[in-house]
Amino acid sequence: MCGIIGAVTDEDAQKSLLDALRRMEYRGYDSAGVCLREQGRLHCRKEAGKLANLEQSLDKKPLSGHAGIGHTRWATHGGPSRENAHPHLADGVAVVHNGIIENHEILRQALTADGVAFRSETDSEVIPWLLSAALAAGGKSTGMDVAWQQTVDQLQGAYAMVALTAADDCLWFARRGSPLLLGRSKHGIYAASDALALAGLADEVLYLEEGDIGRISRSDAVIFQDGVQVQRDWQAIPLAEQAAGKDGFDHFMQKEIFEQPRVIADILSAYVKHGVGERPDIVFPAAPLLDTAPLPNRIVMVACGTSYHAALTARYWLERYLQVSVEVDVASEYRYRNPVIGPDTWLITLSQSGETADTLEALRLFKSNTPDNLALTLCNVPESSLARESDGTIALLAGTEVGVASTKAYTAQLAVLALLVLKIAYQNGVMNEADTKRHLTAMRQVVDGMHVLLSQADRLQALTPLFEDIHGALFLGRGPCFPLALEGALKLKEISYLHAEGYAAGEMKHGPIALIDAKLPVVVLAARKYHLQKVLSNLREVQARGAKVILLTDMRDEDIPDNVNAVIRLPEGDSFTTPLFAAIPLQFLAYYVARARGTDVDQPRNLAKSVTVE
Ligand code: F6R
Repeated sequence: MCGIIGAVTDEDAQKSLLDALRRMEYRGYDSAGVCLREQGRLHCRKEAGKLANLEQSLDKKPLSGHAGIGHTRWATHGGPSRENAHPHLADGVAVVHNGIIENHEILRQALTADGVAFRSETDSEVIPWLLSAALAAGGKSTGMDVAWQQTVDQLQGAYAMVALTAADDCLWFARRGSPLLLGRSKHGIYAASDALALAGLADEVLYLEEGDIGRISRSDAVIFQDGVQVQRDWQAIPLAEQAAGKDGFDHFMQKEIFEQPRVIADILSAYVKHGVGERPDIVFPAAPLLDTAPLPNRIVMVACGTSYHAALTARYWLERYLQVSVEVDVASEYRYRNPVIGPDTWLITLSQSGETADTLEALRLFKSNTPDNLALTLCNVPESSLARESDGTIALLAGTEVGVASTKAYTAQLAVLALLVLKIAYQNGVMNEADTKRHLTAMRQVVDGMHVLLSQADRLQALTPLFEDIHGALFLGRGPCFPLALEGALKLKEISYLHAEGYAAGEMKHGPIALIDAKLPVVVLAARKYHLQKVLSNLREVQARGAKVILLTDMRDEDIPDNVNAVIRLPEGDSFTTPLFAAIPLQFLAYYVARARGTDVDQPRNLAKSVTVE
């Protein structure tokens, strides 16, 4: 989604801005722009399309200056055009904005009545016009601090924004509802929507809080909250943000698929403390409440997209092993459906980014309704808004995920959820020591099993012809593998642009069976642990209607049904680890089909890595 960078530096600001925008490309965007202050004037350049278009334009005619702002835009209000790209300008001020200004139409009408001629269709353009009006009304006596506050006070909705003026060698910022942080180095001070943007520019970062507003100069940052100046802590830039190369892989997604055994190994070594023969000891340091909390009456899990699919799989584990009632919902529905929360309920949010707007609002709704209930998050960015607003965080330890299609953060969520279930079950006496150890041993075997699956990449690549000349693809599974079917379909559709659906295999006869013919490949997830015979009878129904079948299974060779078009063998796992194994071939399948179709695997069209608007 949109990316913001602002720099006040003793170096070439254009270079700093472009470096940062490049590092935010992974977020997804469709236009880009920069504005620099040079000798008391603002110079702006914007282009639709990829950042390369802006870079080419700046190569031909560079801008210079030591203070500037830059933006990659993901279109919401108005299409991806040069006019709608940020920064937006008005009478000597320029603004970049992430989020949505909900009252923009009313503000636009009032400004138009005052004679403003808007140049774009965006909601964001009201901000520089409000700012220039506030400056004009206050004159020199009040100055930018006051005008900026007056501007911010008129906005409803979500924003992270940075403003530059022709008159000052400073930048002004404000944050509410969208992430924004500051960075500093010996060369200057920066504002950005993403810590990754600051890798290479800053040594330290400062995460702004909701409602923070202020200004940065080359050597100083001043922050106000509710009109009172506040101090916030600077911290070393997270190590994970420092490396973002492809390390010889063709795509970040491919690299991230291959990183999964390492991620699982890191999770196990960070959270499982016992040696051989000792009592199991699973510890989540940033969620200490879990060590003493009794089993709740109910658990609610809320997330979006791939993270939601991880929650759906965990529901099977939680209900089976803890015998607790579990509700799972997508955040965009949960937050608006007036959920009955009640006492003795835990909320678990799941998010790679920790900045997904709907998930964050779901957490806020839960906390405001029942402040005494425990709200946990499983999140890959421990400094994110979700992590900071939750009562406890379990870091996913997946490292920066750059590919828009989530892979390693998904399996990290599954692994952490498995450990969470084992911890609570053992701690509360609903799983005995021997069973807990047996499951932990199986979890350790995931690392090797994943390596075996990764070595089969070529076999998955060889299946891509089955996805040529088709009208869609169907993924079927039961039990904890049903959400894997949803995830397999999501991965395929988001990066290959082929229509794909995931279904509970038992639901197939209730509609989707009408789609089945020779041009609808069907991926069947058949695990020995999950209703194997029932899945196999679904498989036969699919075959009887002429579909090509790709079977993902841990069955013995002799049990594999005849005439399937391809079999991908999964290592034998238990109820926790089979989904972790099944994830990898599904990711490969999507990856290789997308490659064969020549799509932009890491930055698929229309998609954003971190969905910070609802
Ligand atoms: C799909 C994908 C998305 C995200 C979703 C939630 O590959 O990545 O569906 O899972 O946008 O994002 P997070 O996990 O950051 O809250």
